[in-house]
Amino acid sequence: MKNLLVVLASSAYVSAAVLWNGRFQDYSTSADFDKWSWSNQIGSYQTYIYGNLHGETASSWLTLGSGFKNPATTSENQGIKIKINASSTWNGGPMLRTELLPQTTNSLSGHLYFHVSLQIPTVNPPDPAYEHQIVFWEGHFADIKYGQLSGQNGVADTLQVISGGKSIWSVTPVKGTWYNFILETGSPGGLWVSTGSNALTKVYTGSLNGNGGTDWHIGALRLPLNGVTQQITETDIFYSGIYVEDSGPTTQP
Ligand SMILES: *[C@@H]1O[C@H](CO)[C@@H](O)[C@H](O)[C@H]1NC(C)=O
Repeated sequence: MKNLLVVLASSAYVSAAVLWNGRFQDYSTSADFDKWSWSNQIGSYQTYIYGNLHGETASSWLTLGSGFKNPATTSENQGIKIKINASSTWNGGPMLRTELLPQTTNSLSGHLYFHVSLQIPTVNPPDPAYEHQIVFWEGHFADIKYGQLSGQNGVADTLQVISGGKSIWSVTPVKGTWYNFILETGSPGGLWVSTGSNALTKVYTGSLNGNGGTDWHIGALRLPLNGVTQQITETDIFYSGIYVEDSGPTTQP
């Protein structure tokens, strides 16, 4: 009995590991995002995907502030407003993009819990007529998306999680409400969701068809619609509470 307790206690201790912390308290101003480069990989995020055709910098598109975080989160003093506009073409591509990726030496792969909270704001929300990929791995095994999916018909004003080509959770998002997610990679895998200050609960159990990895994009990627040139003013999405842990999961946002 005594040995069992020791084992339980030590495994509980190990379970606290945060493998990568993307909370924004280590950034004092958004200009800190401009310090990252391929030859100077500092900070918690890689910042190389943003409209740069007119000399813009990462901080042209990223704004930190206490108003951009889930107010229920006490472990972080600020969140981020990620912006795109008609100048957000990156490397000349047809998509409008501003994205952050983890800067870490950890592989972030295995049975892990990827935490992210996001809000569709009341001001400058995304246009539901367009598909927006707002959290995704480059391999697209599990994506959080907003808007009409490219090439499909249906209800456009939808926030959903798509894995293995099918929607595993969806809502008509309430603008100004924080949606908290945990993407559980590896096996068994699954999806945890809540809003506001509510504890996250598992709403889907099953493989997300992927093992995680560091090529994890947080931000706004808007697809073209029927190949038409995009004329938009400003679209914003807010994010906070971004980190990866190896067990648990922590269910408080
Ligand atoms: C688009 O955003 C960029 C970066 O903030 C800014 O420099 C540019 O003036 C904006 N374009 C318009 C048309 O508002």
